[in-house]
Amino acid sequence: KKIAVLGAPIEIGASQMGTLMGPDALRTAGLLTLLEGLGFAVEDHGNLSVKNVPALEDTPPENTKHYREIQRWIHTISSRAYELARTGAIPIFLGGDHSLSMGSVNGVARHCRETGRELFVMWLDAHADYNTPATTITGNMHGMSAAFLCGEAGLDSLLGREPRAPIDSSRLELFGTRSIDKLEKDLVKLRRISVVDMRKIDEFGVSVLIRRVIDKVKAVDGVLHLSFDVDFLDPEVAPGVGTTVPGGATYREAHLIMELLHDSGIVHSLDIVELNPFLDERGRTARSVVELIGSLFGQQISDRPTPTNAIP
Ligand code: ARG
Ligand code: MN
Ligand code: MN
Ligand code: MN
Repeated sequence: KKIAVLGAPIEIGASQMGTLMGPDALRTAGLLTLLEGLGFAVEDHGNLSVKNVPALEDTPPENTKHYREIQRWIHTISSRAYELARTGAIPIFLGGDHSLSMGSVNGVARHCRETGRELFVMWLDAHADYNTPATTITGNMHGMSAAFLCGEAGLDSLLGREPRAPIDSSRLELFGTRSIDKLEKDLVKLRRISVVDMRKIDEFGVSVLIRRVIDKVKAVDGVLHLSFDVDFLDPEVAPGVGTTVPGGATYREAHLIMELLHDSGIVHSLDIVELNPFLDERGRTARSVVELIGSLFGQQISDRPTPTNAIP
């Protein structure tokens, strides 16, 4: 049981600065010792830097803020993600804003393409992050990562020479959605992407909805990348985020999701993004997130045997 942790202190994909402190705040909140305590061999690969990575592209697309700098991050993250996934460890990418997932998921997807395992991506997030340069209102690239991963056009040179491994849009699961721009929504509909929005969560509960995702992955013996945007949580639970949206998941719902995902055994890789320690209250968001990661990796209230995935 190996876990490889990599920090990606990127903040320019968002409009509010401060997520670059995310990886260190998660370490300070005890992420590594918690995972070790759960029986994992944890390797911390430190924080990436792109200081010495040369810029690749000199004609950035329209409506893409900090494109050239983000490009340096994304191809670097992708190649590191590919290498880490190949070691057989579960890679955990500590953000950093959500643009980092364009690299982490692409790298993991490259690896899955080689191993023949079907990769699903669960996007736990208040937002869909399905904008493209043609639909974005803000130009912030953290709002474009899911679209990029599904192969949407407009950011084609973002990976430089790093091979692109797009995921099929039927393999993306948006979960917790409650803020989506008009044109973004049209595109999500057009691609028939599965959206579990807060309305569905209220009506059916997270347990039924998460089991559906798990069953879908298991049906093809696939694996799951969990891209966990901290703004998925309600701002009452997680104030340390730049893009809080009211009406998010409760502490209890979030833990149940993590526990069910743990029991399923399908989680293959993880991003933790958008934590902004500059906006946090005495570290409580970082601490809650670390507790949730604990549940994802097997921390349980009572030491019961791992249940089967069957709906009781
Ligand atoms: N839809 C908005 C935008 O495109 C907000 C995106 C927020 N994304 C995030 N990763 N927090 O700018
Ligand atoms: Mn693998
Ligand atoms: Mn996001
Ligand atoms: Mn978000």
